[in-house]
Amino acid sequence: MKAPVLVLLFAASIFAYPSVKNAENCSPDKCKIEDNCRCSSSINPISDDENPAPQLIAITVSESVVQTLYDNYLNPLFFDRKNPDGGPIGLTFYVPHEYTDYSLVQDLYVRGYEIGDHSITKEPNQTYWREATPQDLQDEFEGQKTIISTFANIPSKDIVGVRTPQLQLEGDVSINAYVASGLGYDNSWPTYSTEQILPYTLTYASTQKCTGTMNCPKDAHEDFWIAPLTNIKGVNATECNSLATCLVQGTADEIADWLFDEIKSYRDSNRAPLTLRLDSYWFLFTDNSYEGFTKFLDKIAQEEDIFLVSVQDILEWIKNPVGHKDYKSPVHDDRTADCLGVTCRLKNVNNEDRYMKSCVPCPQVYPWKGNPLGEG
Ligand SMILES: *[C@@H]1O[C@H](CO)[C@@H](O)[C@H](O)[C@H]1NC(C)=O
Ligand SMILES: *[C@@H]1O[C@H](CO)[C@@H](O)[C@H](O)[C@H]1NC(C)=O
Repeated sequence: MKAPVLVLLFAASIFAYPSVKNAENCSPDKCKIEDNCRCSSSINPISDDENPAPQLIAITVSESVVQTLYDNYLNPLFFDRKNPDGGPIGLTFYVPHEYTDYSLVQDLYVRGYEIGDHSITKEPNQTYWREATPQDLQDEFEGQKTIISTFANIPSKDIVGVRTPQLQLEGDVSINAYVASGLGYDNSWPTYSTEQILPYTLTYASTQKCTGTMNCPKDAHEDFWIAPLTNIKGVNATECNSLATCLVQGTADEIADWLFDEIKSYRDSNRAPLTLRLDSYWFLFTDNSYEGFTKFLDKIAQEEDIFLVSVQDILEWIKNPVGHKDYKSPVHDDRTADCLGVTCRLKNVNNEDRYMKSCVPCPQVYPWKGNPLGEG
């Protein structure tokens, strides 16, 4: 009587652990959305000509959240903006640590925007990210999640998205570090504008092309999502995914038309959700970019099937897909949090002064990799 039970328990325990072998090929009959599984593909779950999918666009910001960014760009560009159904727009902020003002991070969170993780150091050296140990990566990403949730005083469970600096994914090492840090999706892996892959899980092998200098994950990671960073075409039809590095120049109307046409090329094909990287230096270094981007935002607001949402909202849609006529702007108006708003003058690891605005009492030293709570 006992033997079969033991065999079953043994088998169950094997399958309960994440695989360390290469992931198997995916097929939709074994990978179902109700099991939190989706194969990598360019197939939209909605294929209804009468009521096609909404064209979802997530504008993503991965720079330090500081007062000038908030006052000069975020407030005038986004705060009063509405989606075509009259609901609020979404945005995603992958927040790095240095110089970030955590009272502003809390403000963005309470406004309903998504707060994600962009590491503590945002180290510019690409080799650092490619050669980082599992511990380095966990210190970077789990550490930053701790810093954000502590000093912005927002729930850790709401920080689920991550983008790695310089888009330098280190394959399975990165994904394992994300999972160990309690993160649920990545938005660092570019998908070509000709490929147009929709978000998927790493339960089975990915078919997304491995681009540039990044390492792509090969193992199975159940329940972990990839939200591809969608490329568009920039100057001379080069592939790009940051509005700044697309290097398009022109009048405000030309910049607005370029962006609108790029969105249209997705909308006219498979309507894969788009994630666009917005860097504020684009507005400083490209003439007419601010006016052009404003015109672009005004233009898409006239279209009944284009919605600005967060990356997290995109994943919610793909888990519960509906056509654009039934789509409602996601509302996150139930968020409250307390904030002291104290300015902390702290020493960093090089004994230099750093100012940090915090929602809770000041730590003893400037929080950093290996010491996210800034303990003395
Ligand atoms: C970049 O990082 C690598 C590995 O951490 C190091 O060997 C190299 O010297 C660094 N390069 C620069 C320019 O700092
Ligand atoms: C785009 O192509 C034109 C014509 O070949 C060339 O002169 C220009 O430098 C290119 N622009 C960029 C930014 O590569």
